[in-house]
Amino acid sequence: MGISSWLSERIPVSGVQLRELTNEPVPNHLKRWWFALGGTPAYLFVVQIVTGILLAFYYQPAPETAYESVRHITDEAVFGWYLRSLHKWAATLMIAAVILHQMRVYFTAAYRRPRELNWVIGMSLLMCTLLTGFTGYSLVFEQLSYWGATVAANISDAVPLLGGFAKRMLLGGEQYNSHTLSRFYILHAAVLPTTIILLVGVHIAFIRLHGVTELKFDDEPEDKPGHFNFFPDHLLTELTIGLVLMILLSALATLFPATMGPPADPNTTPEVIKPEWFFYVSFRWLKLFSLTFAVLSTGFIVAAMFLWPWIDAALRKITGWEDISVFIGIIATFLLVGLTVWEAAVAH
Ligand code: HEM
Repeated sequence: MGISSWLSERIPVSGVQLRELTNEPVPNHLKRWWFALGGTPAYLFVVQIVTGILLAFYYQPAPETAYESVRHITDEAVFGWYLRSLHKWAATLMIAAVILHQMRVYFTAAYRRPRELNWVIGMSLLMCTLLTGFTGYSLVFEQLSYWGATVAANISDAVPLLGGFAKRMLLGGEQYNSHTLSRFYILHAAVLPTTIILLVGVHIAFIRLHGVTELKFDDEPEDKPGHFNFFPDHLLTELTIGLVLMILLSALATLFPATMGPPADPNTTPEVIKPEWFFYVSFRWLKLFSLTFAVLSTGFIVAAMFLWPWIDAALRKITGWEDISVFIGIIATFLLVGLTVWEAAVAH
């Protein structure tokens, strides 16, 4: 008996059906990498899971042991420095890729009817990705991560109604204490990654149900937009992106390996407290306004982002201007980049 008939008797799944199921035609514009950016965070997430599991073999989430275990990974464990640096760089690239993917979806208006719910799923993915970055940064238990987490918890305290509760849930008390690190750890290594996996599953299911948005380009024939096969053509594009990313990641990890700052000292506030780069924009915003206004306006902006497909529809109806979202998007991008660069450039 041949291997294939042995297998098909034990796993009675039709190869033809499986091929049909995985081989949806994809619009031609997905050949351009800018349009296929959704696969990039998915790929980097897998890198995070693999390197994260290996780091967890050594990491110990308690105030007395956390810093020393990260130092051990960085200085002594075999290839520990490389794994830690890959994990750090893949986190940076994943967050950048999610933002760029969201921008392409935004500027091509691919969130409009009937894909509104998938935009909401995407926004939830953005929030989970940012939270995973924040909790991961806090695990090292160095001065900046300790004080960054303390500042973040105090900011959350300023949120009306739920803020105080969120702070106590995050810290396991009124302030950073011996239970805090294990909370960050379980969120970072279990709760958030599981949520991301479930959300990506629903996100992809929606993409399969709706298909990717058809876009028309001037250099394409008028009558039909043109499609190509997911398998093997699009898969090859994704694999090529994956290979380039792996080389890039490896080069970044080797040339700019992850380092360690001074260990956390709850009695000494550092002169300069900075979050990770992806929170620079909200940190600068906080410094520009009073705490209450900054927190409320940030909440308002995030809520508007979640509801954007419906806000956009209403704005288009009222103004009659189809491209109003492009105009708003350009202003928002300038603000995002401007505030981030500003925060990066100055100490206070
Ligand atoms: C972990 C994060 C994410 C992953 C892995 C992911 C994955 C993907 C993939 C593979 C696609 C297919 C088309 C493409 O490659 O661009 C896609 C499309 C889409 N994504 Fe995401 N995504 C993520 C985050 C987001 C975010 C943050 C948003 C927006 C808030 C979003 C909204 C959408 C929408 C509306 C589509 C449909 C686009 C179309 O029909 O052209 N996604 N996503």
